[in-house]
Amino acid sequence: MGKPRVFSGIQPTGDIHLGNYLGAIRNWVEGQSNYENFFCVVDLHAITVSHDPKALAADTRKVAALYLACGIDLECASVFVQSHVSAHSELTWLLNCITPLNWLEDMVQFKEKAVKQAENVGTGLLDYPVLMAADILLYNTDKVPVGEDQKQHLELTRDIAARMNYLYGSEENPVLKLPEPMIRAEGARVMSLTDGTRKMSKSDPSELSRINLLDPPETIQQKIKRCKTDSVRGLTFDDSERPECHNLLTLYMILSNQTKESVTQECAEMGWGQFKPLLMETMIAALKPIQDKYQEIMAEPGYLESVLRQGRQNAEAIANPTLARVKAALGYSIPL
Ligand code: TYM
Repeated sequence: MGKPRVFSGIQPTGDIHLGNYLGAIRNWVEGQSNYENFFCVVDLHAITVSHDPKALAADTRKVAALYLACGIDLECASVFVQSHVSAHSELTWLLNCITPLNWLEDMVQFKEKAVKQAENVGTGLLDYPVLMAADILLYNTDKVPVGEDQKQHLELTRDIAARMNYLYGSEENPVLKLPEPMIRAEGARVMSLTDGTRKMSKSDPSELSRINLLDPPETIQQKIKRCKTDSVRGLTFDDSERPECHNLLTLYMILSNQTKESVTQECAEMGWGQFKPLLMETMIAALKPIQDKYQEIMAEPGYLESVLRQGRQNAEAIANPTLARVKAALGYSIPL
């Protein structure tokens, strides 16, 4: 028996921020040696909202380079681009045909995004979780490390796989493997710097709401200087009246590799004027190695392409047989 398999991905829309890092990439890196890993840049997902064709390729390369800069190890992981492996699109269609429409209409993210787009809601936005299910199920995935916001999509993935197995497989011979979500307690929901009750998000119109992994030190300083706080002296976790305080302490705790107890003690008597410079320095120091490595990777001509080429090959070696298995189960069997 080989190692259990991990699959995860990030959309190349906008800049990768601390939420993506702490909710997802950091966990991929920490656990990677225990698994056989597939990390995908999900560029087919990126066109479910309006996008700029001129930016798509560059954004896709940027996300792949950031995976590597954050410490993804190609000895145990494949990094690839979703649109390079056509099985993702093909399995989506097959899964579409067994997915009840109301399952998709119930997705919280769809409802939230659909409201923002008013009458112009694309079918892709509704169908997005089925594409995500195809991503995961193609690799017979055991674990999916994601942030809290993807939990419902993973439940749907399991429901779709179970329905496929019920309709077209048998108990001894399931067509698809049911994956488990992997959501860490800390960092699974990083909040906006301008409103501690809202998730840090690429689509927030305010740049001040998030720290991007490639933000230079001056930008980080400005954003932390201007981030929302409160007028209470002494900093504490878990006070529902002080969501910003909880969020900023959590960021400090994770980025400085400390326990909750030690941060609770260290910051109990602090005011914001003392804490903010500490947070800034910690953040700048934590992101510097990632930023340096990113520049190195981007400066080496052809390197990223060679990684993505190999990644595609590794991905196809697993994805294509899974697709063939699903097609056979559905009755696509004329030999040619
Ligand atoms: P995306 O691109 O929105 O986010 C990528 C990852 O970052 C996590 N994340 C957060 N974690 C903590 N706090 C936040 N504020 C925060 N914002 C984002 C997300 O939970 C995610 O893990 N549908 C997915 C991409 C996807 C995917 C997949 C993921 C497509 N196919 C298959 C796993 C497996 C998405 O839009 O993530």
